[in-house]
Amino acid sequence: MSQQEATSHFNQQHKHGQHIHNADQTFTKENSSRYENPSLRLMLKANCNAILSYDSSNQPPDTIEAVVGDYAKPEFGLTEEEYLLKPNDPDVSPIFKSKKPIKMLDFACGTGLLDYYLASYLPENSEIVGVDISRNQLDIFEKRLDRFQAKNPTLKVKLAEFDILNEEFNKKRNLSLPKELQENAFDLIICSISYHHFHDVKGITKKLKTYLKPQGDLIILDFYDGQEQAFPDDPDPVHAVAHHGGFSPEVLKSLFTEIGFSKVKAGISYKFNVWMRKDVILGHLPHDRVNHVINVAKTQYNEDRKELEYLVERSMSISVCTK
Ligand SMILES: C[S@@+](CC[C@H](N)C(=O)[O-])C[C@H]1O[C@@H](n2cnc3c(N)ncnc32)[C@H](O)[C@@H]1O
Repeated sequence: MSQQEATSHFNQQHKHGQHIHNADQTFTKENSSRYENPSLRLMLKANCNAILSYDSSNQPPDTIEAVVGDYAKPEFGLTEEEYLLKPNDPDVSPIFKSKKPIKMLDFACGTGLLDYYLASYLPENSEIVGVDISRNQLDIFEKRLDRFQAKNPTLKVKLAEFDILNEEFNKKRNLSLPKELQENAFDLIICSISYHHFHDVKGITKKLKTYLKPQGDLIILDFYDGQEQAFPDDPDPVHAVAHHGGFSPEVLKSLFTEIGFSKVKAGISYKFNVWMRKDVILGHLPHDRVNHVINVAKTQYNEDRKELEYLVERSMSISVCTK
């Protein structure tokens, strides 16, 4: 899809509400309990480092050329202790080194593993607000909340099940607007590996902008498989992935510019290999790449899950912009 086609795609009127049921059903209790695996931990450790070292100037983002992690080693050879940036590392952004508390929104926070990795870097008395539409994902986040204390005793973490666009969804589940979700409230909003799920990407991004303080930053990390393919009106019934292949940095850059963000920049943050089941490949990659990927991929039999998995090379894009 060309940049122009993709941008005009965002401009179509999407019936966001119709698809929520589907997106919400993706993370069933069983799927959520199996969500955190070595491949996810690899991506979230790398996303943690990318967020810690983000740069809100107009410089292009740093790209790691080599593939991150060694798929042949347990946990891709990346331990939390060794791989995550040290708090005093010169690459860590000033916002994480400041003495002032920050308020950070993790939009579509899922099970909160990324926030857990980030917790010890947030200044004293900071606050993380996690919002997601999936009760099952948030239940897992809630179970790890007491472990945040050991990492950062003064950090407050609040969680909310809420749909920021669809009133009907909230009404059906009796969900009221979380009091933390105020306009001009957040210094930083992060969103990790979730944009490809959103049907109304433009509507969500506009809304997130309202929650940022003036000069607040938005950081989006999401897959990019070299080619985007959108299915906003034909949601994948299993994964509710509206945008197979993710988004190219160019498409995200033009979207954020159109919405009125400044200091917009986007690029490939890093490349990585992940183990994916065939149905997950079918639900995430552009359709015309699926056969090729399956034919050339290394495979392994996952004994715990009794499933064949394929090793797929993907890229993670990072987009950073300022209100
Ligand atoms: C692949 S998970 C990513 C979770 C987490 N950010 C991470 O990095 O592990 C995608 C998340 O997006 C959430 N999601 C999908 N559509 C959403 C929406 N419209 N509003 C809020 N969350 C949404 C899902 O429930 C799920 O938890």
